[in-house]
Amino acid sequence: MNSKTDGTTPTVRTRLELLQQVKAWKQAGDTVGFVPTMGALHSGHLSLVEKAREKATRIVASIFVNPTQFAPGEDFDTYPRDESADLAKLASVGCDLAYLPTVDEMYPEGTLTNVRVESMSDVLDGIYRPHFFYGVTTVVARLFLHVQPDVAVFGEKDYQQLQIIRRMVRDLAFPIDILGAPTARDADGLAQSSRNLYLTPDERRNAGALQAALHRAAMRLSVGVRPSIALQEATQLLSRSGFGNVDYVSLVDKDTLQDLPDEPLRDGMVARLLGAAWMGRTRLIDNISVTR
Ligand code: PAF
Repeated sequence: MNSKTDGTTPTVRTRLELLQQVKAWKQAGDTVGFVPTMGALHSGHLSLVEKAREKATRIVASIFVNPTQFAPGEDFDTYPRDESADLAKLASVGCDLAYLPTVDEMYPEGTLTNVRVESMSDVLDGIYRPHFFYGVTTVVARLFLHVQPDVAVFGEKDYQQLQIIRRMVRDLAFPIDILGAPTARDADGLAQSSRNLYLTPDERRNAGALQAALHRAAMRLSVGVRPSIALQEATQLLSRSGFGNVDYVSLVDKDTLQDLPDEPLRDGMVARLLGAAWMGRTRLIDNISVTR
């Protein structure tokens, strides 16, 4: 382990070093919490570490920009990377260890073996990024096997990802508790995301409208407005607020992510409203719980 004395989190880069450290912790009676990330950390990520801290005595965060979840032409090469800033941020919230594997460490013999959660990966974002969730579940399964945590924390901002990982963990019986953490937001409601760095100042000023549109639609649905009407209003609001293409605004079953019938929500029903839209060249996603 590369222990740091400069206020950053200690790092390991190989699975073997990681296993030795995790084994030593478990032998000493510690529990291990895990926060997987692709780096470019913001306060949303740090809140995941803090949540993990509530549930485990030792925390590992991984930083790995996973090539298998990017399609050709997406931003794999330009995805923001700043290792030393990330390590300082992790130290500030008491993360015990950062795992920084190389692509060879994660995929030593390539990618013949993949993990696919069918159907849930093919809706919503899966329609626009068909490779994406298969890359996510493949790397998260590998990371779980490397880290062997007791608990892992994922942000609700990536709600579809969170539900897919919950399903993968159930189906493959990983002995890991999956926790969702609330979305960290800027003052205007914009969900924090590493890709917000791509927004120009003008785009950033308008970007909060995504959360506002979903919030308004959730209010309308909660008083019995038909989904097709509330969703159309939200799409129109996004277009008026400077968003270009709206990939989707959808109301789905909160667990299975499948579409709901175009009927007013029944009393007490809880559903999930998700949206994805383009602000300039940046694709933003967000979601909100909806209750009648
Ligand atoms: O949410 C992310 O940052 C990534 O999809 C994850 C879970 C770290 C897998 O690469």
